[in-house]
Amino acid sequence: MHFCKMLKKLQERWKVNLVNLILIILTFALGGSLCGWAGRKILLFTNLEKGVVWILLYIILVTLLWPLCVLLISIPFGQFGFFKKYISKILGKFRSKKPNIQKIYNIAVFASGAGSNAKKIIEYFNAAENNNGKVCMLVCNNPAAGALKIATENNIPALLINRKNFQEKDYLLAELKKKSIDFIVLAGFLWKIPTYLLKEYPKKIINIHPALLPKFGGKGMYGHHVHESVIANKEKQSGISIHYVDEIYDHGAIIFQAICDVTGNDTVETLSQKIHLLEHQHYPAVIDAVLQKQNPS
Ligand code: GRF
Repeated sequence: MHFCKMLKKLQERWKVNLVNLILIILTFALGGSLCGWAGRKILLFTNLEKGVVWILLYIILVTLLWPLCVLLISIPFGQFGFFKKYISKILGKFRSKKPNIQKIYNIAVFASGAGSNAKKIIEYFNAAENNNGKVCMLVCNNPAAGALKIATENNIPALLINRKNFQEKDYLLAELKKKSIDFIVLAGFLWKIPTYLLKEYPKKIINIHPALLPKFGGKGMYGHHVHESVIANKEKQSGISIHYVDEIYDHGAIIFQAICDVTGNDTVETLSQKIHLLEHQHYPAVIDAVLQKQNPS
């Protein structure tokens, strides 16, 4: 029971599934044994008797060899990516005598619907371990939006805009600057993003679309319209697309997609539920990964 709990905790910490966790543990075990064995073999060449000096040299050797051995073993287990990150994190700790200059991106979420994605994003970045970004503002064009309530509940300042001040460069930019916003996340925001905003935030505005772009995207393709078309087209699969925003609706470079099955029994409601689940599962983590990639540190 205790062991299962420990495995679950490790899975959450390292964000891996059970199979990968087992492969990681095996890599640790075999990598550790390999470096112990290699350390002893190397010391044979020194003709040293086992004693204090031998032990000291052994510790130094094992410390130096461990990353190499673990990386080597991780290759056949398909865990090289994990260990590369893990080891550079450890090395980073040794290196980081200088102050940590990791940038925390100030995020503005633009949301004008129910706001379920906005909620997930806020909660995700409220967690101490997700410190690439922080939601500092919610921008909304619908006074009746659930997203506004979610902002209030989470103590996030909300800005209600109308068509006129959305088009006026000076108004919105000034509001975003006041909060030092450096990244914009669209989560159920239907208006086209004006050129002045795209210029001010190049590759720093992303959107989520409830279908597998480039299919079922473009003007008028939002919410239930998307799901109706997917069902009418008898698609076997649908999903979500997270993409950079450009001048054309649902057109910018795709960052991430996830798929779900569409069955003959699916209705707009059931499909919408499946899509929302995927969105909640992936959107915050994908935003985090984009910020991590852009981070100068
Ligand atoms: C989501 O399905 C998203 O893909 C689309 O708008 C919807 C917003 O839902 N862009 P919610 O308001 O976050 O619940």
